[in-house]
Amino acid sequence: MPKAVSSPNIALIKYWGNRNDAFRLPAADSLSMVLDMPTVEATVEGADVFSVRSYDADGKEKPQNEESVARLRHHYDLSKEYLRGIGRGKSLPKEVALTILSAIPPAIGIASSAAVFSCLGEAYAALVEGKPLSREEVSILSRLGSGSAGRNSYGGFVALTNHGDGIASAYGEQVADESHWPLHDIIIVPSMKEKKVGSTEGHAGAATSPLFAERVRAIPKRMRECISALRTRDFEKLQIVSEEDALDMHRVMESQSPPLQYLSDETHRILKAIEELRTSEKLNVFYTMDAGPTVHLICTEDSVKTVADFAEAQKNCIVFKTKTGKSSRLVENEI
Ligand code: DP6
Repeated sequence: MPKAVSSPNIALIKYWGNRNDAFRLPAADSLSMVLDMPTVEATVEGADVFSVRSYDADGKEKPQNEESVARLRHHYDLSKEYLRGIGRGKSLPKEVALTILSAIPPAIGIASSAAVFSCLGEAYAALVEGKPLSREEVSILSRLGSGSAGRNSYGGFVALTNHGDGIASAYGEQVADESHWPLHDIIIVPSMKEKKVGSTEGHAGAATSPLFAERVRAIPKRMRECISALRTRDFEKLQIVSEEDALDMHRVMESQSPPLQYLSDETHRILKAIEELRTSEKLNVFYTMDAGPTVHLICTEDSVKTVADFAEAQKNCIVFKTKTGKSSRLVENEI
C-alpha cells in the first residue's frame, strides 16, 4: 500500500493560465520553492470502487464535497490514461481508495492542491510494476491533478517547463536542491475563509485579461533572471523579479472576466508594513501572494527572526514558519 508525503510550494514566477485546461498544461513556465511544511500524507489502495477519506492534522475526518471527490477521481483516470500511453498502465487497479491526511487549511493561498496531488502522483507511480518511473514522469502524474503539483517532484527550487504538445508536455525540472540556499517562507494568513473562486476556474479565465498575452511574453526573461538569481544566491535580484511577477499575476487576475480579487485590504496593509520594515532594518525579505489574501515573506537566515517577529505581531492572523524543503516522496510501500 503506497504511502507518500509532500508539502506545498511557493511560486516565485507564477503559473496562471493554461494552453490546455483538461491536461493542466500551462501557458507559460513557472518556478517555485518547495516548502518543508505543513505536510500532506496520502495512502493509496487498489479497490473496486473509488473512495476518499480525508483527515485534518488532529485526525478529525473532514467531509468531502462532491466536487473535490470528482476532481480526485478524474485525476486517477487521467493518470491511467497517461501511464497507458507510455506503456506502463498494465498493473494499475481499476479504482483506488485514498486516505489523505492534511495539515494544511484548504483554499487560503497555501498551495494545498500542490501538496495533495504531488502525494498522489508519487503514490500512483508506486502502483506501477517494474522499473520505477522517472522524476519527470512522477511530475507529469502530479501535474495532471494540479498544475503547481508538477513542481514538487524535486526538492528545493523547481521549474515547471513546457516541451511541445500532448499530455506529457510540461514537467518539473530542478534548478537547485534544498541545500543550495536555505531560504525561509514566513506565511501570514489573514483570513481562514475559503476563497470563492479556486485556481482551476481562475486559470480558465486568465486569457480574457487584456494583460495576459503580455504576461506570457514577459515570462521567459523573468524565468532566466530568477534562475540566475537563485544559482548565484543574489537576493536582491530574486526580490525584484519575484515581486514584479506576483504583482503582474494579480493584475491579470483583477482584469480577467469575471475579475478575481484575491488580495484584501489586510494583504495590502501587511505589504506596506513589510516594505517599511525592510527599508528601516535593511532586511533580506520579499513578498509574494498566490490565489488568496495570504502573504508569503521569503527571507534569508539573517533576516528570519525579525520577519517572524513581525508576522507574529499581526493581529488576527495565523502564521506558518516554513523553509526550503524536500520533494514529494514515498514513505511506505507495503503490500
Ligand atoms: C496562483 O496549481 O492551484 O498558486 O491546476 O487548477 O490546481 P490547478 O491550479 P494551481 O495553480 C496555482 C496558481 C498559483 C500560482 C502558482 O502556484 O504558480
